[in-house]
Amino acid sequence: MDIDHHARLSVAPMMDWTDRHCRYLHRLLSTQALLYTEMVTSAALIRGGAHHLLEHSASEHPVSLQLGGSDPVELAAAARLGAEAGYDEINLNVGCPSDRVQSGCFGAVLMEQPGLVADCVMAMQEAVKVPVTVKCRIGVDDQDPETVLPHFLERMIAAGCERVSIHARKAWLQGLSPKENRDIPPLDYDLVLRMKRAYPQLHISVNGGVTSLAQAQGFLEAGLDGVMIGRAAYHDPSDILCRADPVIFGTGSETVPEEAVRQMLPYIDDHLTRGGRLGQITRHMLGLFAGRPGARAWRRILSEGAHQKGAGPELVLAALQQVAPERHERQA
Ligand SMILES: Cc1cc2nc3c(=O)[nH]c(=O)nc-3n(C[C@H](O)[C@H](O)[C@H](O)COP(=O)(O)O)c2cc1C
Repeated sequence: MDIDHHARLSVAPMMDWTDRHCRYLHRLLSTQALLYTEMVTSAALIRGGAHHLLEHSASEHPVSLQLGGSDPVELAAAARLGAEAGYDEINLNVGCPSDRVQSGCFGAVLMEQPGLVADCVMAMQEAVKVPVTVKCRIGVDDQDPETVLPHFLERMIAAGCERVSIHARKAWLQGLSPKENRDIPPLDYDLVLRMKRAYPQLHISVNGGVTSLAQAQGFLEAGLDGVMIGRAAYHDPSDILCRADPVIFGTGSETVPEEAVRQMLPYIDDHLTRGGRLGQITRHMLGLFAGRPGARAWRRILSEGAHQKGAGPELVLAALQQVAPERHERQA
C-alpha cells in the first residue's frame, strides 16, 4: 500500500470523534483518504492493558493509530501492539495541549524535547515495520517557530521519520483550553510551506483551519505533500470526503451520502445485535446532509430518537426520508 499517496488527504485524529464508527462512515465516503484513530496513550495500552482500544474494522484501511506518550520503551511496545492489530501506520502525538502532571508527558509539550521525540520515533521504528510518523505543532509557548520547527524536523529526519503532519499554529500551554488552542494561536501556513522547500525529502502534510477541498488542493499545488483536515471533515463530511476521491486522488467518482447511509444499516444492525447503542453510531452521521433542505429534520430525528429504547435502522431510514433529493437542491 502506498500510504504516502493516501496521505494526500487525511482526516485528523480527534478524541471522542474519530472512533471506529466514525471511521467506518468516513471510509464509505472516501475510499482513499488516510484515516486516523483518536489518540490512545501508550500507558493505557501497556500499563492498563486496554487492548480493546485497538479494535477496528477491516474496511477502515488505510488507517493510522495515533499514540500519546513519551517513554520510548513503552511507546515501542504500544506501537508493536498497534502493528499486530493491523494498523497501517503508527503516529506519535506531539500536538495536543496536555496536562503533564495527571496524564504523564505527551503531546505538544514534547516540542520542547526534540531529542526525546527522536528517541521515541527510533524505538517505535525498531519495533514495527509500518511507517512511524509524527503530528506536531510549529512550537509551544514562547518558542520561536522559525528556529524551533526546522530544528525539530531535522531531528525527526535524522531519526528516520519520513512523514509529518504539522498543525500550523503554536500551542499555548498555559492559559488556553485545548479547544481555544485549536483556534486562537494564529496559523502560519507560510512557515509550513517553507519547511517543505527546506526539507524536500520529508513528506509534509499541513493541518489546521482547512475548510474546503479547494483550499486543500491549493496547498497540494503549492508543493505540500498532504493536507490533514479535522473539524470540517467531521462536521461536513459530504463536502470534504464525498468528492475527495476524484478531486484529490484523481480516481473513482463522487460518493453519495444517501448511499453511505444505506450502507451503514447492516453495520448498525450488527452493532445493535452485539449490544451496542444506535446513538454511538448516528452521532457521527448528523452532519452528513449539512446545507441540504431537510438537514435539520435529519439531525433532529436522529438526535432525539437514537437514545430511545428499541431505536434501530428504521429510525435512520425515517430520518433519511426528510432529506430532499440532491436534484431538488440544484433546481432551487
Ligand atoms: C474534538 C477534537 C479532538 C482532538 N483530538 C486530537 C487527538 O486525539 N490527537 C491529535 O493529535 N489532535 C487532536 N485534535 C486536533 C486535530 O487533530 C487537529 O489538529 C485540529 O483540530 C486542527 O485541525 P482542523 O482545523 O482541521 O480541525 C482534536 C481536535 C478536536 C476538534
